[in-house]
Amino acid sequence: MPIASVVSASGGAGKTTLALLLGYYVATHAGDPRSVLLVDLDPTAGLSLRAFGDEGYVELCRKRKSLYHLDLDWTQGVAVDVDKYAERPGSAAPAISNVAILPPGEDESGDMASRVDDWFRYGDRERLLRLLKESHALEKYKYVIVDTAPFFDVRYSIAAIAASNVVLIPLRPTVTDLVRTKRMVEKLKKAGITNKPILFIFNYDKDKFRQATATLVKLGFYVYKHGGTAQVQKRLMALIEDLGRYGQFAKAVLPHIKQLSDSEFPANKIPEGDLYTCPAMAEIFRHLAPDKTPDCPAHYEEE
Ligand SMILES: Nc1ncnc2c1ncn2[C@@H]1O[C@H](COP(=O)(O)OP(=O)(O)OP(=O)(O)O)[C@@H](O)[C@H]1O
Ligand SMILES: [Mg+2]
Repeated sequence: MPIASVVSASGGAGKTTLALLLGYYVATHAGDPRSVLLVDLDPTAGLSLRAFGDEGYVELCRKRKSLYHLDLDWTQGVAVDVDKYAERPGSAAPAISNVAILPPGEDESGDMASRVDDWFRYGDRERLLRLLKESHALEKYKYVIVDTAPFFDVRYSIAAIAASNVVLIPLRPTVTDLVRTKRMVEKLKKAGITNKPILFIFNYDKDKFRQATATLVKLGFYVYKHGGTAQVQKRLMALIEDLGRYGQFAKAVLPHIKQLSDSEFPANKIPEGDLYTCPAMAEIFRHLAPDKTPDCPAHYEEE
């Protein structure tokens, strides 16, 4: 039973986009959509807001459909069932309409962050895993994907990784992000929880630099092209090699595509985006379920 956590050293690295895309990929190409559970372990509810919208999320909290409420009930000795607390977005997010989502949740007396405070006050890092087991999530779902808050609050990463058997780390191919990611992985190792396989995935906009350079040159700026670039390249290569000691890099990068923006995905299906994102998702899927053959649209061609 693959449980994947998605963590990153920097905010905005693409965790939520990756979690949603992976849910979409598994539902579309690799199995039954009803076999996927997305857990939103970010108290700011990035994933749930994208899937249900602001009002939809508020309504779910009011109906006590969240991980927060599941945790509260279980703490009070109530027998819990994941399907009472998770929701499928339906028409609110057509690309993943049948994928179950467990939102973080909140009410007037607390939220997911206050639960996580409690978990760690009592040294209970395995709490998420226990909640998934106790609520039968691991029997009812074949794939569980846990999205997290950025690493500056290490507890969300720790709780998610402790529950998972594969760790997915999206990052930008920049010196800053590589250094931050290395520091994060070393801290996680010190915390004693990185005996899990790690897969790094570059979230990369190959046109951004080219376009920016072309624009600047067009406007008459002098763009320094030599020396500095080679130095940065050398540094990047050394950092990638260094980070490679802690995990594997996915060969396919997650490309930057407009259809993955907050407003378009998962509200719309992404036929064109699917073409470009599928190789990375299929590679990730191979790490989750090595015995299954991943599948992408036949007309995908390497550039
Ligand atoms: N490959 C991509 N193509 C297009 N847009 C992207 C891509 N990756 C991320 N984005 C956009 O960048 C923004 C940040 O991405 P996302 O929310 O997935 O990051 P995050 O790591 O979950 O952020 P946070 O740390 O705040 O939770 C979003 O607006 C998202 O739509
Ligand atoms: Mg996010």
